[in-house]
Amino acid sequence: MRRSLIDAKVLVTGGSSGIGRALCKKLVQRGAHVLATARREDRLQDLERECRQGPGSIQTLTGDLADPLHRHAVIDWIDGHWRKLDVLVNNAGAGAIGRFEQAGEERLRRIMEINFFAPAELTRECLPWLRAACASKRRPAILNIGSVLSHRAVPLKSEYCAAKFAMRGWSEALRVELVAERIDVLMLSPSTTKSEFFDSLLESTPGQKSPSVGSMSADQVAEEAIRVLIRSKRERILSWGGRMLVWLGRFFPRLTDWFLERFAIPKPNA
Ligand SMILES: NC(=O)c1ccc[n+]([C@@H]2O[C@H](COP(=O)([O-])OP(=O)(O)OC[C@H]3O[C@@H](n4cnc5c(N)ncnc54)[C@H](OP(=O)(O)O)[C@@H]3O)[C@@H](O)[C@H]2O)c1
Repeated sequence: MRRSLIDAKVLVTGGSSGIGRALCKKLVQRGAHVLATARREDRLQDLERECRQGPGSIQTLTGDLADPLHRHAVIDWIDGHWRKLDVLVNNAGAGAIGRFEQAGEERLRRIMEINFFAPAELTRECLPWLRAACASKRRPAILNIGSVLSHRAVPLKSEYCAAKFAMRGWSEALRVELVAERIDVLMLSPSTTKSEFFDSLLESTPGQKSPSVGSMSADQVAEEAIRVLIRSKRERILSWGGRMLVWLGRFFPRLTDWFLERFAIPKPNA
């Protein structure tokens, strides 16, 4: 089945930068009507200006997705304007770098909040509107932006890996729960992507770099997201390096642990 994006009503979280921003632009270029959310109002206004030419359209709502009041405002907006939702893209996310023991409970809770609880609760609230799209003969979809780290965890990002694993487990269960209603649950797992992600870390140990294998542009990842939506691909892991890490972790877990301990954790005298 190929999903048409023309005239589709699409909610994208985290539309102010990186993958979400690139995806909003591509959706508008393909004729979709987009509601983009994020905290930075100036960035969302820039996005609106850049998308003015259409052929689709964009509207924006500013707020913190971890705040239930903002999530309710998003739902109220859909209720007041569209009264249905064809696609929900759970893209907003943030990371942190550093040893688990050296961080506090606050970091764990904030990472889980933005990467897992917020998208899960937003999805719960969007479901009635996704169902309403079924009635208009479209096949609705929830696209969750996970990570290669939803499939294989790495050191110094324990909280982020936990949140992205949670997102993947929840997606798998929800996918089956929604089969009978013909609502697709899709997951795209990018590997390291050039975006503002590493500038917006919630917390980072000073001098800590993020070791990465390869690096895609936000535009390339957004194009993959479009492909996943159009072709209803249930799960897609990006980049050769990303797939290699997941494959190694699955079939050679001890070797992967050894490799990560040796190369992903900076040594004190290095
Ligand atoms: N970059 C990578 O290497 C990489 C790799 C794998 C997966 N991913 C995933 O890809 C997704 C997009 O990340 P990106 O690379 O595009 O990073 P990014 O440029 O930092 O974009 C993150 C987006 O999320 C929004 N956001 C963050 N916290 C928010 C909050 N509390 N409330 C509302 N919006 C919030 C940000 O907007 P505001 O700051 O304006 O609120 C921004 O629009 C994330 O889920 C990330 O985990 C990224």
